[in-house]
Amino acid sequence: AYVKGQVRIHRSGKTEGGVGLIRLNRPKALNALCDDLFKDLVHAGQALDSDDDIGCLVLTGSTKAFAAGADISEMKDRTFDHAYKTNMFAWWGQFTKLSKPVIAAVNGFCLGGGCEVAMMCDIVIAGEKARFGQPEINLGVIPGGGGTQRLIRAIGKSKAMYMCLTGDMMGAEDMERAGLVAKIFPPDDLVDEAVKMGTKIASKGRISVMMCKEAINVSQEVSLEEGLRFERRMFHALFATADQKEGMEAFLEKREPNFTHK
Ligand code: CAA
Repeated sequence: AYVKGQVRIHRSGKTEGGVGLIRLNRPKALNALCDDLFKDLVHAGQALDSDDDIGCLVLTGSTKAFAAGADISEMKDRTFDHAYKTNMFAWWGQFTKLSKPVIAAVNGFCLGGGCEVAMMCDIVIAGEKARFGQPEINLGVIPGGGGTQRLIRAIGKSKAMYMCLTGDMMGAEDMERAGLVAKIFPPDDLVDEAVKMGTKIASKGRISVMMCKEAINVSQEVSLEEGLRFERRMFHALFATADQKEGMEAFLEKREPNFTHK
């Protein structure tokens, strides 16, 4: 219902708990991110993000692959002037503009552009056998969807350099230790666990969830002083919401809050 006329994302839809689920579905190419697939992804993300019933999104792939990178056959014959003039892959950044949290649920290969998309999400959880990598160096290029910039922020310089310069893959446990992965689950439970986590987030006050995501993301862009100021202003603003009154009243009355997202 969300992705009209586009075939490569399926089972997109919402759960009772207010979670929007997007599943990359291009199995023959291990979910390689051709332009059409990425257009579908952005379209599905925007549709779910603007749905009032939804409080959190989950993005997943298959058991074998979250996504094996940008589509190499589509890219191979592109020229410098085309890549430069069209600002190739800049538009992928649209996926980072969603206002509700996105959980990446990663099973299998999560490589190149796939790893970059996972890092565009707000929380990454992984199946025990997930494999992360930035293998672009093996193709004579470098990451082009944020790999050199987001990976260093997630796991630090030495590990980011190691992954980008050798093209070696890292397993789920290593990536959890390094800080990119928040939690690990058995592969078969991963999507259920992601939806469970999403349901918990969706049960909170929507405005505070959106502001929290916005404030954390601002920390990547500005100085500590500016970030602290931004956080405080968001915090102050939440005192204008019904959810703040309800949340604090419910705590003092020792009951569950009934958030109305206002
Ligand atoms: N682009 C296009 N096709 C891809 C692909 C990709 N990134 N990754 C896999 N495929 C295709 C394969 O060509 C193959 O197609 P055919 O069946 O038609 O031959 C199919 O998916 C299955 O792949 P394999 O047979 O290779 O499967 P495997 O299990 O032996 O290996 C793998 C799996 C290790 C992930 C291997 O497929 C691989 O190394 N893929 C490429 C990974 C990569 O280099 N990604 C970076 C891309 S560049 C990028 O992402 C740029 C950027 O930063 C934006």
